[in-house]
Amino acid sequence: MNEVHHELHGSMFSLLKKFVTHTYSEDMWHQLTNEAHTTGNFETTKSYPMSDILAIIKSASHHTGLSVIEIEEKFGEYLVPDLFKMYGSYLNPSWKTFDVLLNTERVMHGAVRHLNSAAHPPILNVSQVNEHLLIIDYYSKRKLASLAVGIIKGIADYYKEKESIAVKPTTEPDAERVQIRVEFKS
Ligand code: HEM
Repeated sequence: MNEVHHELHGSMFSLLKKFVTHTYSEDMWHQLTNEAHTTGNFETTKSYPMSDILAIIKSASHHTGLSVIEIEEKFGEYLVPDLFKMYGSYLNPSWKTFDVLLNTERVMHGAVRHLNSAAHPPILNVSQVNEHLLIIDYYSKRKLASLAVGIIKGIADYYKEKESIAVKPTTEPDAERVQIRVEFKS
């Protein structure tokens, strides 16, 4: 029933390749994919096993000394400009971090599901507690909430709001359900 969650969309693998080659090197990508026993090339129209991306990330963790959680966060931060380029036409130009997050589930992940039947983004239930606080409930069997935290930070960076936004998981970050608190100061 939920076998789609054993896979991740090829666009995410291509973005991971770009992240690794830009942040580290091309050699590093070859090394990581060799160690993970995967090919280094992923098509953006297909999906690939979650176990592949997890093995690549684990191997990146060994090489860099960063934890898996830290790598996923850094990758999430990195991929935002590319993600926005790919789905830019769905972004209202008047939006900033707060509105993008409020609309991600309905508009952005909605568009992804509509345009790309091979993609199955996670469910994000975003609650607006008040004008300074959003609580995001992440739910996905892929357990990539640290990637979600990174994406939120990357969005804040994109809109130059990083200084005034605090992002923090308030439950265990490697679970299927994770609550993420996003506080807007000022
Ligand atoms: C705003 C524009 C966004 C776009 C265009 C976008 C697009 C996508 C796409 C194409 C995927 C791959 C789905 C698949 O593999 O089947 C994905 C996955 C994911 N997205 Fe988004 N996303 C956006 C925003 C966000 C935000 C704001 C968050 C976090 C709050 C987020 C969290 C994630 C996570 C964690 C995944 C990995 C898959 C999983 O955990 O199940 N995304 N997204």
